[in-house]
This record gives sequence, structure tokens and C-alpha cells, in this order.
Amino acid sequence: MIELQVNGVRHELSADPRVTLLDALRDRLGLAGTKKGCDQGQCGACTVHVDGQRVLSCLMLACQAAGHEVTTVEGLAGPDGSLHPVQAAFIACDGFQCGYCTPGQIMSAVACIREGNAGSDADIREFMSGNLCRCGAYPNIVAAVREAAGHARL
Ligand code: FES
Ligand code: FES
Repeated sequence: MIELQVNGVRHELSADPRVTLLDALRDRLGLAGTKKGCDQGQCGACTVHVDGQRVLSCLMLACQAAGHEVTTVEGLAGPDGSLHPVQAAFIACDGFQCGYCTPGQIMSAVACIREGNAGSDADIREFMSGNLCRCGAYPNIVAAVREAAGHARL
């Protein structure tokens, strides 16, 4: 039995110890906002937060997340449903095309700003470089992170 705390809700899973956090979130908990791109740590589509730090959920076992607070893109909005400032900035800046990489980009961007690594466009590009976008929406993604970095509620 694996006990996971995700977006403030406690879950008990009967899962093989080899199940990744990504598969547990998507297939067991129905949280499909976290995307599977490469499944081998190269694209960033599966980025979530564990105790506020960004991690690649395809490279973490679900059992390793037991006892820690996991946050997915579904957990970013406020209790009243208001969008997180980074989510709002991605919409305002048109920071996506197909949207497949977007949840991972957003989770990474929230952490990047919290880490203090969004002070310049060069920093944003460097510290978001683990999140690939096959649509090439990078200029607008950088603009969205830059805009959100000036916002208070992060
Ligand atoms: S799916 Fe995890 S890094 Fe690509
Ligand atoms: S918006 Fe399509 S992969 Fe990034």
C-alpha cells in the first residue's frame, strides 16, 4: 500500500513498488494534467512539485513520494477556482500551441520563479531548458514567465 498526498488530498494506492509517480498520478488517480512525453527524463512534460521542488515524475517512483506533498497542475488554481498567476500569464502571452508541454512548462515556471531564477530572459531560458516544446512556443513561454515573475501570489 502506498500513501500519497496529492494537491492536499490523501490517497491510498495498492500499487507495485515499481510504479512511477507519473503513472500513479495519471492511471491510478486520474490526474491526467501531468503529461507523459518521453518517459525517460528528457522532455519535462511530466514535471510536478514534491514539497515545492520541481521533479520529473517519470523518474520518481510513487513510493518515493510517500510522506511528501505532491502538487500537480490540477492543484495550482486557488480554492475559488481562480487561475494561478503563471496559468493566467500563459494565456495572456499565448504561451502554447498544442498545449501538450504546457502543464510541465507551468509547473516548472512556478518553481523557476520561486527559486529566484527568472530575473532575466537569459535566466528563464536557462532554468526552463529542461522543458521542451515541440511547437517551438519558446518566445511566448519566456514572455509568460517574465510576466508572472512580477506577480505577488506565487
Ligand atoms: S515524460 Fe518525464 S521527462 Fe519526459
Ligand atoms: S505547445 Fe505544443 S509541445 Fe509545447
